[in-house]
Amino acid sequence: MELKNSVSIITGGSSGLGEATVRKFHSLGSKVCVFDLDNEKGKKLERELGKNCAFFSVDVCHEANIEEAIKAVIKQFNKIDINVNCAGIALAEKTLGKDGPHDLTRFKKIIDVNLIGTFNILRLCAEQMAKNPTDNNQEKGIIINTASVAALEGQKGQVAYAASKGGVAAMTLPIARDLARDHIRCGCIAPGLFLTPMFEGLGEEVCETLAKDVIFPKRLGNPEEFAQYAVQIVENQYINGSILRLDGGIRLA
Ligand SMILES: NC(=O)c1ccc[n+]([C@@H]2O[C@H](COP(=O)([O-])OP(=O)(O)OC[C@H]3O[C@@H](n4cnc5c(N)ncnc54)[C@H](O)[C@@H]3O)[C@@H](O)[C@H]2O)c1
Repeated sequence: MELKNSVSIITGGSSGLGEATVRKFHSLGSKVCVFDLDNEKGKKLERELGKNCAFFSVDVCHEANIEEAIKAVIKQFNKIDINVNCAGIALAEKTLGKDGPHDLTRFKKIIDVNLIGTFNILRLCAEQMAKNPTDNNQEKGIIINTASVAALEGQKGQVAYAASKGGVAAMTLPIARDLARDHIRCGCIAPGLFLTPMFEGLGEEVCETLAKDVIFPKRLGNPEEFAQYAVQIVENQYINGSILRLDGGIRLA
């Protein structure tokens, strides 16, 4: 599919990997809809990019909220071609910690945002994509989800996060199979360590230590490199149903 003249919904588009994807897609001629909780950053980005960028203040977990926002996108741009899901949260808590077992409400919250929130958006986007006429490549839509290398190599304290990302990774193939009839592809990026506000929250020392495990280049990933991969998934029709690592070769111990 071509990005030029497409309409894309990017969740988590106010910050980090989502924001880089918004900027990249916009620069390549896509009309970008930023779905995020962060009003301040989202509105600032909308003002900066101007025409063909619209911010929608949403919580990906909130069913009615998302249904309304999707309707508003259709009203404004008439269609949805691409959905990139980057909205996500992290948590550090062990299965059994010094203060007792993992808090169940916090576990559910991570699953709710990272896994159910992703599915909520993509199922509603797919409904709209299926209504598109096929383009020159016989395609109607593309869904890109964001897992993590933690889906495969979760660390201590990442049980909830790893479970949520494992779910995102595992649903890639069945989504691709379910939507093939409607000429919609689904890909999943599993990033390694990227320099974003989420990651910076860990502190400089931790970032430096983790970067040492990257095989080459010896640094954290740049959000633009994530955006570039998302462009490749949109443009390369043979990418479907796969979990694609983007990690400088890192394998977490
Ligand atoms: N940064 C990394 O190293 C890394 C590695 C692997 C995977 N990831 C994943 O990539 C995605 C993006 O991460 P990032 O590093 O850019 O983080 P980030 O914190 O910079 O951005 C996440 C965005 O999601 C939004 N968000 C959170 N909860 C939301 C909700 N309920 N509804 C709507 N928006 C919500 C936030 O407001 C924020 O703008 C996440 O899913 C994260 O788990 C990041």
